[in-house]
Amino acid sequence: MASPSSCFLLLLLLLFSGQVIRGGLSMAVGINYGQIANDLPSPGRVASLLRSLNISRVKLYDADQNVLSAFLNTDVEFVIGIGNENVSAMTDPAAALGWLEQHVLPYLPYTKITCIAVGNEVFKGNDTTLMADLLPAMESVHQGLVSLGLETKVNVTSAHSLDMLGNSYPPSAGSFRQDLALFIHPILNFHSATKSPFLINAYPYFAYKANPSAVSLDYVLFQPNSGVVDPNTNLNYDNMLYAQIDAVYSALRAWGHPDIEVRISETGWPSRGDGDEVGATPENAAIYNGNLLQRIGMSEGTPLKPSVPVDIYVFALFNEDLKPGPTSERNYGLFYPDGTPVYNVGLHGYLPPMSPSSSGMMMMMPGFRAFVFALAALILGLEVAASGTGGRKWLGAEVTAEDICHPRGPRWCQVWQIRDGR
Ligand SMILES: *[C@@H]1O[C@H](CO)[C@@H](O)[C@H](O)[C@H]1NC(C)=O
Ligand SMILES: *[C@@H]1O[C@H](CO)[C@@H](O)[C@H](O)[C@H]1NC(C)=O
Ligand SMILES: *[C@@H]1O[C@H](CO)[C@@H](O)[C@H](O)[C@H]1NC(C)=O
Ligand SMILES: *[C@@H]1O[C@H](CO)[C@@H](O)[C@H](O)[C@H]1NC(C)=O
Repeated sequence: MASPSSCFLLLLLLLFSGQVIRGGLSMAVGINYGQIANDLPSPGRVASLLRSLNISRVKLYDADQNVLSAFLNTDVEFVIGIGNENVSAMTDPAAALGWLEQHVLPYLPYTKITCIAVGNEVFKGNDTTLMADLLPAMESVHQGLVSLGLETKVNVTSAHSLDMLGNSYPPSAGSFRQDLALFIHPILNFHSATKSPFLINAYPYFAYKANPSAVSLDYVLFQPNSGVVDPNTNLNYDNMLYAQIDAVYSALRAWGHPDIEVRISETGWPSRGDGDEVGATPENAAIYNGNLLQRIGMSEGTPLKPSVPVDIYVFALFNEDLKPGPTSERNYGLFYPDGTPVYNVGLHGYLPPMSPSSSGMMMMMPGFRAFVFALAALILGLEVAASGTGGRKWLGAEVTAEDICHPRGPRWCQVWQIRDGR
């Protein structure tokens, strides 16, 4: 068991730990990491969970420093957020620059922040002050990035609700609400000028819930069905989400912006709901998200944009027990806070056990990190081998820093901490 060659193998494996650790999804799916809950695992453990799932695109609703620190030197790309409550303050360029200096600058390039979403579903409510402040806030944040020399590295956008469409059917006739024109026109000009993506939160679930007798469940769940033909284009839609995306593309084109790229900042399906929330079941959620992941894996485009793979952030990583509103709101998660799947969509992640310290290693540069990682693992490997406990999961695909760190207690954690200089 303790032969030198097996230790050498371990060393080799760990030197290439980037490859060893991966496993799971072979697709560029993004996930929304919402945190309106009191029972979620630490960001360091979530980093391990996402690595085990091969998910490397994450959207936050804020710029949580604990999360951004825990993902230093990972491959994970972040969309971070400025909440609606902070949008008006950001209209002041000095405040926006200050925010960037505090929440973005310290993390780049070690945490890959590639996009800032200013506000969430601002046009869903009726707060016209907020609506009027949105563009100036986006402009201030963009100007701040320009003055920091980061404008090509970080996009500025906002995540919108589909409610901003006046018409969404057929997709070719998609249009924005005329009463919002005053706000939306200049925002679209901003997107064209800065080449940033247009984000929408799209939930076929809501359409189904509102009218279950008229809307085909197969159509909203990506199940086999004969589809719906757009009479203007003759394009056949076999699912509602793609029809919604194309309605947004049509609305953008109708107002002179065929150049703007559409991304889905949220979509998902609740696994539980109140009595009047028809369709909110674990079965439907599993079918929706399972089929969605499959479509994303195929790098499929929509009928209108077949060569542009849909770009989607699933809502959400965890159930969030403190979200207000109907029961469904607290039940969009793919995972329970303990890391077990809420239903089976073929995602088998690994949430490491709690450990006293875990984010220290993330502070290190990748090459040096790999070296220290391998060294510590080698020593640990020798120790474990010598003590006869044999190989365990750190030889397999689920090796993580915490895994190495945790079972041996603080002494091993110190290896990371010391090298890190913290
Ligand atoms: C992980 O995902 C990336 C794309 O995000 C893919 O290229 C790679 O093959 C995946 N790896 C595994 C082991 O699934
Ligand atoms: C954002 O809003 C919250 C709540 O009003 C406030 O406590 C916080 O200081 C604001 N943050 C910034 C950066 O303006
Ligand atoms: C705005 O919406 C809220 C809740 O939807 C409603 O109570 C309020 O009366 C509305 N205000 C205006 C000015 O329409
Ligand atoms: C910014 O958005 C544009 C358009 O969607 C995209 O091509 C570009 O890659 C994005 N930049 C970054 C840094 O993600």
